[in-house]
Amino acid sequence: MTGDASSRDFRFDAGLDERVEGAARALLGASHVVALTGAGLSVESGIPHFRGPGGLWTKYGEPPMDGYQRFLRDPKGFWEETLEPKAPWAKALGETLAAAKPNSGHLALAELERRGHLGALITQNIDDLHRQAGSRELLEIHGNHSLLRCVECNTRFTREELPIDPAELPPRCPGCGGVVKGDTVQFGEPIPADVLGRCYREVARADCMIVAGTSATVFPAADFPVQVSQKGGVLIEINPEDTDLTPLASHALRGPGGALLERLLHHVVQGSPA
Ligand code: APR
Repeated sequence: MTGDASSRDFRFDAGLDERVEGAARALLGASHVVALTGAGLSVESGIPHFRGPGGLWTKYGEPPMDGYQRFLRDPKGFWEETLEPKAPWAKALGETLAAAKPNSGHLALAELERRGHLGALITQNIDDLHRQAGSRELLEIHGNHSLLRCVECNTRFTREELPIDPAELPPRCPGCGGVVKGDTVQFGEPIPADVLGRCYREVARADCMIVAGTSATVFPAADFPVQVSQKGGVLIEINPEDTDLTPLASHALRGPGGALLERLLHHVVQGSPA
């Protein structure tokens, strides 16, 4: 199976369904379950992933690794580029982000949380889809494209709370006067301490981790499943393809995130005491 897999016409053979059931039993036996998601989970919502066949970086090349330093050197210029992106990948991503809706994978994770089977969800995605799906214990480690953040006091704003005036760039924080940027974490930018601190606390508590739709190649997020595995925790990997994490996974489920998470939820509900 290559590139993006779609759930619509995905078929479960008996063997795979048994493996999903096995993963559900492991999840039900755990005391604190945390999920880690990546771009692959939003592929079925029409947002391209980054690496591998059909990936955004594969097509356009990775952006410069010093994006944040460029922002700090010229925040006005950076905002002008943000408001009228020239980079083809930025245009492509912007359009798909605006139109995207949560898929069955996002909804299944929100339902697992609502039913008390998922303690927290760490996402590398900036697309706001987990929030729209109803996830509440949500840690957006790479930020959220729909939010703004002050680089001085770390306060976040919605775009309604802080409308951007193209004649007044860069926007300034109404609280401390600091420069405001998009909440999306740039290459070269430190992960905001409040989010990173909570991620480490959740990972420290976790004895089971669902890892869905990530190549697990970008740190610090890629280290979280390794930490859970090293202390004897259970890893449930959901991905159409093998990744660097597969050797550590107790349950490696191959296929699209939407269909597999929905099936996992089904077996968890079936398996949990009424
Ligand atoms: N369902 C589940 N997984 C899928 C699907 C699908 N329908 N389609 C593809 N995948 C898998 C791919 O096999 C791949 O392993 O999703 C993974 C996507 O990997 P990447 O493109 O590397 O995305 P991600 O791991 O989220 O990247 C991490 O890198 O560029 C930065 O900041 C960006 O947050 C991003 C980070």
